[in-house]
Amino acid sequence: MEDDFSRILLERGEIERRVRALAREIADCYDGAHTRLTLAPILSGSLIFVSDLIRELPLKMKLSLVHISTYPGQTTQPGSPRVIVGPTGDIANRDVLIIDDILDTGRTLSRVQAMIRAQGPASVRTAVLLRKPGKARGVEADFVGFDIDDEFVVGYGLDYGDLYRNYPHIALLRPELIR
Ligand code: XMP
Repeated sequence: MEDDFSRILLERGEIERRVRALAREIADCYDGAHTRLTLAPILSGSLIFVSDLIRELPLKMKLSLVHISTYPGQTTQPGSPRVIVGPTGDIANRDVLIIDDILDTGRTLSRVQAMIRAQGPASVRTAVLLRKPGKARGVEADFVGFDIDDEFVVGYGLDYGDLYRNYPHIALLRPELIR
């Protein structure tokens, strides 16, 4: 697998430190007495991020899963976000924190934010690990791990053709592997 990458963009240790800091920012925002918090991870890309993040959050929370497919098959060109599952559970009157791996064009997040808002939550915020600044129109994230250049990245949950999610760093694929 290692041979498939042209460059590591973010090393595992750097990601770990940033996720811990992000958890502190989020914990400060939702005070400890808060009992209405629901995290809504967008699968599959945020799988690794959310599993690391929630274990750093000293807050009582529920999970509501949302499964969206954005890249049909092996491509780096996003299609329309297709809802496969969710949001699961009852999020009415809950403080919902949507979690995604990356804010790119913003199409996925605007779709999910609208779906969640339609169910009458008490509040809606969004946390993303990565953001490609300047690309998304009219969609914002409240918590951002890293701003990155407009390049297709994989690893730490992010995939190409459903591969590389288990790679512990965030890396760029060798261009000849990308169709
Ligand atoms: P949008 O464009 O809707 O994208 O903001 C969000 C979803 O698309 C996926 N995505 C990527 N996946 N490398 C990936 O592996 C990327 O550079 C990338 N950009 C967008 C991702 O699933 C995200 O939730």
